Amino acid sequence: MSEVLASYGRIQLTSEVDSNIPYYNVSEINWTQQEKEILDDLKSFITEYKLIQKQVDAIRNIQEKEEFLKGIIEDRIKQKKIVTENTNELVNAVIDNLFFGYGKLGTLMRDDMLEEIMINGVNIPIYVFHRKYGMCETNVKYEDKTSINEFIDATSRFVEREVGFDNPLLDGHLIDGSRINISTPPAAPHGPSITIRKFRKSPLTIIDLILKKTISIELAAFLWVAVEGLGIHPCNILVAGGSGAGKTTLLNALAMFIPEHERVVTVEDTLELNFEFLKNWVPLEGVPSLGKEDKGNEVTLEVLVENTLRMRPDRVIAGEVRGREAEPLFVAMDIGLNGSMGTIHSNNSKETVTRLVNKPMDVAIRMLTLLQLVVVLNRHYDREKGMYRRVSEVGEITGIEGDVVQIGEIYQWDYKTDKIKRTEYPILLKEKICKWCGLSKKELNKEIFIRGKILEHMAKKGIRERDKVIAVFREYHYNPQMVLAKFRKDNP
Ligand SMILES: Nc1ncnc2c1ncn2[C@@H]1O[C@H](COP(=O)(O)OP(=O)(O)O)[C@@H](O)[C@H]1O
Ligand SMILES: [Mg+2]
Repeated sequence: MSEVLASYGRIQLTSEVDSNIPYYNVSEINWTQQEKEILDDLKSFITEYKLIQKQVDAIRNIQEKEEFLKGIIEDRIKQKKIVTENTNELVNAVIDNLFFGYGKLGTLMRDDMLEEIMINGVNIPIYVFHRKYGMCETNVKYEDKTSINEFIDATSRFVEREVGFDNPLLDGHLIDGSRINISTPPAAPHGPSITIRKFRKSPLTIIDLILKKTISIELAAFLWVAVEGLGIHPCNILVAGGSGAGKTTLLNALAMFIPEHERVVTVEDTLELNFEFLKNWVPLEGVPSLGKEDKGNEVTLEVLVENTLRMRPDRVIAGEVRGREAEPLFVAMDIGLNGSMGTIHSNNSKETVTRLVNKPMDVAIRMLTLLQLVVVLNRHYDREKGMYRRVSEVGEITGIEGDVVQIGEIYQWDYKTDKIKRTEYPILLKEKICKWCGLSKKELNKEIFIRGKILEHMAKKGIRERDKVIAVFREYHYNPQMVLAKFRKDNP
């Protein structure tokens, strides 16, 4: 017996008695003879292929690329007088095979409910990580070496990096911004393995995170003040957590609080942060060395972070702090680039501090007081709720005693009530913010309270989409009275 868990498009998720993990089934399409001919000879179907490719390359946004191609292919179908019930599928297949290079993975790449796609080799089912149902086995697989290699070659051409026996590891991104890792022999002795961390079409905003209960309204309002800095002095914040805990997502959501005029430089191994909404944003990406002997071309994150200091940023944001780049990031904070942020792989704020001051990061202990907050995330699984993520704690760095960094856990998640609660530790950062920004404690608390009300209102009204959310934060930054007037009108 199998139970249907969900069904959408050509996808059906089922739970099978003989398996502990859900099954993700993509239904096959029965192509007609005419459709098959097109698919066998795609390039002749799109005769002006090269010209179109050029136009596609010139479009920056993936949705626009897709829309543009859709129009052209649909016209072509009409022109050729092809009668088909599968117009959509045919259009997608042409895009996937001719332009995006997804091949077999097309349906999986288009499913916005998937977080990850994992290919472990030839004739092994592809696994996916579903937003609601977690790890699932699929009925999709590469049936022979040639087809898996075709995908690897196409990817390697797209990211302009070689992968093979001399360079068995490749990190890069696909055309839609998804992150991809390819490991081939000899590093992967069982044969090539591919992992794709999918890019989300509509990025999660702080309102989404509130609605999902990942963060509380009160904490979100506090972080709004901390990140925006009341236009005077933003705080330095690290987002910590395990892999897939939602660190990058929260960092992205927090960045939407940054005032529009600020110059932000982001530094990453593989581009993931998307701050297009900031006018003066420069993304930098590390350049891996081309092989064991050739370290000449390499640009490490450490070098990049140092370089940002010569770019006159207001803030430096490091996608993931892992190694020697931690030190220059703290130097950035030291020279007054307040509002610097990053993510770090660690399970709680104490461990974060330990990792920072030890090898390979090796940040000097006295520098640690430049960091104000560590926001820690955790991923949980529950049969009923499915997958869910919570801010599990917020640690405040309060000072150094002897050789020990003092941390106050100012917020904590309570498993029983599923609430993020204030602890009994006083928030010393509030005193600092008052001093920096010339506010009384009462005024600051009122400010946080008002922002909480605005966030609550947005959550209630479903104002969650990125551009709309940012518009409110901006208006509040530059003209708070306007926002408050609207708010009062809606909440008499
Ligand atoms: N709070 C959340 N609720 C639901 N899904 C989330 C949440 N945070 C992140 N995700 C999703 O989980 C996946 C991993 O998130 P990401 O931020 O990249 O994790 P990390 O940086 O910790 O490895 C992404 O697909 C993202 O869209
Ligand atoms: Mg991340």
